[in-house]
Amino acid sequence: MSTKKIDGKQIAGLVTEKVKERVENLKSKDIVPGLAVVLVGNNPASQTYVNNKAKTCERLGMYSVLIELDENISETELLKNVEALNQDDKIHGILVQLPLPSQIDEDRVIAAISPLKDVDGFHPENVGKMMIGQQSFLPCTPFGVMKLLEYSDVEIAGKHAVIIGRSNIVGKPMGQLLLQKDATVTYCHSRTKDLHSFTKQADILVVATGRTKMIDASYIKEGAVVIDVGINRDENNKLCGDVNFDSAQEVASLITPVPGGVGPMTIAMLMENTCLAAENTLT
Ligand code: GUN
Repeated sequence: MSTKKIDGKQIAGLVTEKVKERVENLKSKDIVPGLAVVLVGNNPASQTYVNNKAKTCERLGMYSVLIELDENISETELLKNVEALNQDDKIHGILVQLPLPSQIDEDRVIAAISPLKDVDGFHPENVGKMMIGQQSFLPCTPFGVMKLLEYSDVEIAGKHAVIIGRSNIVGKPMGQLLLQKDATVTYCHSRTKDLHSFTKQADILVVATGRTKMIDASYIKEGAVVIDVGINRDENNKLCGDVNFDSAQEVASLITPVPGGVGPMTIAMLMENTCLAAENTLT
């Protein structure tokens, strides 16, 4: 039923319209928000994400550079590239696309990005600030989910939010952001016993399992809001999520599709964070 579908593309459009106004305001002060995306190796999925980011920057009048580095680059060389971007005044946001090849310590690279330019919100300083509710860059995917809920008028305070997944990029920060809005939060993961018993209690169910169409109606309470963070390919090579949409929409009150749900929001929030990083240089 289409009325149940949360239209992430439309909401991302509303968010980026506001970012565009902020970009124009910055330009009147001779600042063009700049984003650097660093891509190591040639993973085709990463290349698609990265191209979408560059295109959106262009559409909003922002400056973007793509730094493509060889799959076999050493950690030292990569760190030198990050440091050059830290020093570059035209660059306000730095995103190093993950995952990185195995010879590189991801934590070390993330820690090398200036926290002032960390538009992914992955630097330990920003993660710590988020935990204690101080202003910081919020990780784009959970931040995007919060916007989807806000624009869809979903009440959060007092609701039981269940998150399946505990990654640093999605699951962990997602729980924190929902907690800050006074949800009661439960984290589930691959070692959770009797997953159904938790998910069936969820008023808001956020699914980030990485397992194609794993969550069907049997996991979902009647009337729940279901957010699907997964991006997978099904047996026909079609994009799909971690939720079996056709089954889940029978019981959910609101549900995000894949594609067209959370994905467009992640990019929109990256644009908002980059704009914020540029605005922060004014103060
Ligand atoms: N890989 C998958 N998602 C992300 C993301 O949000 N940021 C970065 N840097 N890499 C990713």
